Amino acid sequence: MLVLGIETTCDETAAAVVERRDDGRGKILSNIIRSQTNEHAAFGGVVPEIAARAHVEVLDRIVARAMQEADVAFEALDGVAAAAGPGLIGGVIVGLTTAKAIAMVNAKPLIAVNHLEAHALTARLTDATPFPYCLFLASGGHTQILAVRGVGDYVLLGNTMDDAIGEAFDKTAKLLGLGYPGGPQVEKEAVNGNPERFALPRPLAGRNDAAFSLSGLKTALRLEAQRLVPLSDQDVADLCASFQQAVVDVTLDRLRMGLRLFRERFGNPNALVAAGGVAANQAIRKVLHRIAFECGTVLVVPPAALCTDNGAMIAWAGAERLALGLVDTIDVAPRARWPLEDIGGLHAVT
Ligand code: KG4
Ligand code: ZN
Repeated sequence: MLVLGIETTCDETAAAVVERRDDGRGKILSNIIRSQTNEHAAFGGVVPEIAARAHVEVLDRIVARAMQEADVAFEALDGVAAAAGPGLIGGVIVGLTTAKAIAMVNAKPLIAVNHLEAHALTARLTDATPFPYCLFLASGGHTQILAVRGVGDYVLLGNTMDDAIGEAFDKTAKLLGLGYPGGPQVEKEAVNGNPERFALPRPLAGRNDAAFSLSGLKTALRLEAQRLVPLSDQDVADLCASFQQAVVDVTLDRLRMGLRLFRERFGNPNALVAAGGVAANQAIRKVLHRIAFECGTVLVVPPAALCTDNGAMIAWAGAERLALGLVDTIDVAPRARWPLEDIGGLHAVT
């Protein structure tokens, strides 16, 4: 089964062709991505209107390259998938409309993929991880702990009450005058910093659920920084190290609780899976290893290029759905908001 996947929900324009074999194994035939980092850098964050325009300008070429590199003709495809949300609506419309056009012209099934579902299923493409598993999804827009029990069967165990972890990294970087995106910059600074210099809060630690809250941590960091102005290089490094350590501690505490909830409801997970850009952070990875070890399960972290937004994950989620006969009609609507728990209602079984 060959599926083309298109991703345009945020600031990456991406297209990929993925093969799903009958035994459920996957293979990436091409995975083309163009990041809009340069367009947004001056603004310290993604500007929705600029993002939508940039997607329009390059998507047809990105799709052509994905098909070319995979050496696949449109007629040979078994389905066309696009992320139909959640995300910045202008970009989502560009990707979904393009996928609809390709599907219609070539008389192929259309699969409207939930972007979060695509992150959730990536471990099955890279590692053939069997259901059920526990997913820690931490990106610029989302921080969730999910029980992944099957295609289309996701149970939210914990969610952030305010900022996402990646967002907190980005805001910290902006506050300290580091570049965008902030996560990698903060991690780099933290290497030379003292993680114990500032006593930052560990929001919700010890609480009897798996929720996250990052906004109090962000405020505490801002107050410490304001107290020190002008900041020396060492101040910046120490602030970054202390912030990152607080996030690591919070992740440890919240994920332990999330896995406990998982076991109580669904038994032992087959893996702890990490997804989203934050999983690229080495300190976070280390703590994920520790939690998986404690819980007697394995840690699956897809390669960084597949943890962050990409077309292959959309194509793969499309293939998994197509294999079950889950396809969409051509009038399927793009969605800015689309929680994973709502996934069932949108798809008709054919
Ligand atoms: O999954 P992703 O590429 O895009 C979405 O948000 O969907 O995640 C990007 C986020 C950004 O907030 C970025 O700062 C964060 O992931 N990130 C990191 C690191 N690399 C990326 N956060 C912490 N440490 C990193 N090394
Ligand atoms: Zn994402």
